[in-house]
Amino acid sequence: MPYTLHRGDALTVLSDLPDNSVDALITDPPYNSGGRTSGERTGRTARAKYTAADAEHHLANFPGENRDQRSYGFWLTLLLTESYRATVESGTALIFTDWRQLPTTTDALQAAGWTWRGIASWHKPVSRPQKGRLKQSCEYIVWGTKGPVDANRNPVYLPGLYTASQPRKDRVHITQKPVEVMQDLVKICPPAGTVLDPFAGSGSTGVAALREGRQFIGIELSDHYADIAEQRMERELTQDDFDLAGPEE
Ligand SMILES: C[S@@+](CC[C@H](N)C(=O)[O-])C[C@H]1O[C@@H](n2cnc3c(N)ncnc32)[C@H](O)[C@@H]1O
Repeated sequence: MPYTLHRGDALTVLSDLPDNSVDALITDPPYNSGGRTSGERTGRTARAKYTAADAEHHLANFPGENRDQRSYGFWLTLLLTESYRATVESGTALIFTDWRQLPTTTDALQAAGWTWRGIASWHKPVSRPQKGRLKQSCEYIVWGTKGPVDANRNPVYLPGLYTASQPRKDRVHITQKPVEVMQDLVKICPPAGTVLDPFAGSGSTGVAALREGRQFIGIELSDHYADIAEQRMERELTQDDFDLAGPEE
């Protein structure tokens, strides 16, 4: 089976993964953001924080959005430390975040032992203009490596800017990432290598990994979203043209 989906808490499951067993950590953790005050960030649900008042969908809430700023930094450091242990030498970490949590995420990455290499941007063209303000039209991908970059192992040239709208018609998760963006990102993992996403959500990273001929290990705490992730990955595998070697690059 080219994928494994664990149901449970990321930190608990990660601690059981063997050392040096994955090639790339590519994940979109709960941001614990979305509020002007500490009370707004810790007291509101993910749905309340990340769903616009006029949104047409009624997607399920998800857990893990109520840490204050300090404990978010500690928790993310623990996760990135366990992920570092499970990643091979020269493996890569790509971590989604927003503008508020960007400094905490780059701190946590380095505290966990990764070498911070840069920040890529996911630009959402249809984001809402805000009167008297600069538009918040990007989320960010903080990236780093475990030790030196080994470009010979995976000689890819990847963009630093990804433009794509959040899925609308077929959206199944409140903070779902576009599969086309994820398909570009999983190419940082060598062909047929293993991508780890400890916050799998609806399985967008997993679908992208399978589509691009990578193996996938996912972890998801919400049974509702784990069911959806499993369905999406199974659908991917049952398509006639599935091929673990992936498309030519
Ligand atoms: C930002 S969402 C990921 C969305 C995903 N990128 C997608 O496209 O569907 C974060 C996910 O992490 C899950 N989560 C929260 N806390 C968790 C934990 N401690 N362990 C594992 N999963 C957790 C949530 O249920 C949520 O689905």
